[in-house]
Amino acid sequence: MEDNRERMGGQEENMAAWLLGIKNLKILPYHLPSLVKQPMVIGHECAGVIEEVGSEVTSLAVGDRVALEPGKSCRQCSLCKDGRYNLCPGMKFFGSPPTNGCLANQVVHPASLCYKLPENVSLEEGAMCEPLSVGVHACRRASVGPETNVLIIGSGPIGLVTMLAAYAFGAPRVVVADVDKQRLHKAQGLGASSIIQVSPNIEVCHDQYNHKTMSTALKASRSGGKVCLIGLAGSEMTVPLTAVSAKEVDIIGIFRYRNTWPLCIDFLRTGKINVEPLITHRFGFSQKDIEEAFETSSHGGSAIKVMFNL
Ligand SMILES: NC(=O)c1ccc[n+]([C@@H]2O[C@H](COP(=O)([O-])OP(=O)(O)OC[C@H]3O[C@@H](n4cnc5c(N)ncnc54)[C@H](O)[C@@H]3O)[C@@H](O)[C@H]2O)c1
Ligand SMILES: [Zn+2]
Repeated sequence: MEDNRERMGGQEENMAAWLLGIKNLKILPYHLPSLVKQPMVIGHECAGVIEEVGSEVTSLAVGDRVALEPGKSCRQCSLCKDGRYNLCPGMKFFGSPPTNGCLANQVVHPASLCYKLPENVSLEEGAMCEPLSVGVHACRRASVGPETNVLIIGSGPIGLVTMLAAYAFGAPRVVVADVDKQRLHKAQGLGASSIIQVSPNIEVCHDQYNHKTMSTALKASRSGGKVCLIGLAGSEMTVPLTAVSAKEVDIIGIFRYRNTWPLCIDFLRTGKINVEPLITHRFGFSQKDIEEAFETSSHGGSAIKVMFNL
């Protein structure tokens, strides 16, 4: 793979670059979403070591270990100015077409989106700030606290980080439901108050999954409760809204995150959240490793987060 430095349009002075370390990677044919029109570098969860800094960067120095927030917002639109920069229409997000991702040996990124890691937080944990941010953002949006009982439907990486975040926000009880026994076992090991195995006898179709899980969430919510819709499968769904309205249940959309890295890093530094058990597989960056890593990750099950160490 070629070095994926982009020309930064005269803004190099505010950029921090870091070296991750390998040169050649043959991209394999895989199932690509229709949004992907041409070959591109994937990846949006990463941490690394600063290799070079722009002349105006004062907050970071060569050798610093940093976790990267992957989205560059325009900083000019009304949403950015309002602080809701995750909703910026001009967002350039690692690995989101057409922006190249961070599974590369070097990346140039704004210094303001590189967060220094404390000594007791590893690079791997730093990379986990990205998925953890989704859970933190959902908990913030839903005002999760010591009086909130939480039900999480889907015990994949995102469900699990959301559970960890909910506990860190003070939730006394987090119940996790999934169709997959292995995933539920993981949730239990990570401290789920209880687990529920949903019948796998549902039509295998993402839309169906989303309808079912959203309907279940809406029905399970108490009056005055909140339902966060994090899962992005399916563009439309049929759900029992009338009953929801009568219960005054709030439906909360979740799109990525904003201003979450400092809090995630603090949760990791203080040990309030331990993401280590979510890193189930580790690979190097050889052709063989890469093939095995993608294969492992595509099967789900016991594979939660599959890490590349470059
Ligand atoms: N909103 C956002 O910003 C954001 C960010 C990241 C991921 N996501 C979305 O979050 C979702 C979860 O991500 P992930 O990486 O954990 O995915 P994943 O596919 O690894 O995990 C999903 C889990 O849900 C379980 N599941 C499927 N159908 C179910 C059902 N009917 N009842 C209960 N459990 C069921 C699966 O067995 C699996 O364990 C995806 O849709 C992803 O696109 C959203
Ligand atoms: Zn903007």
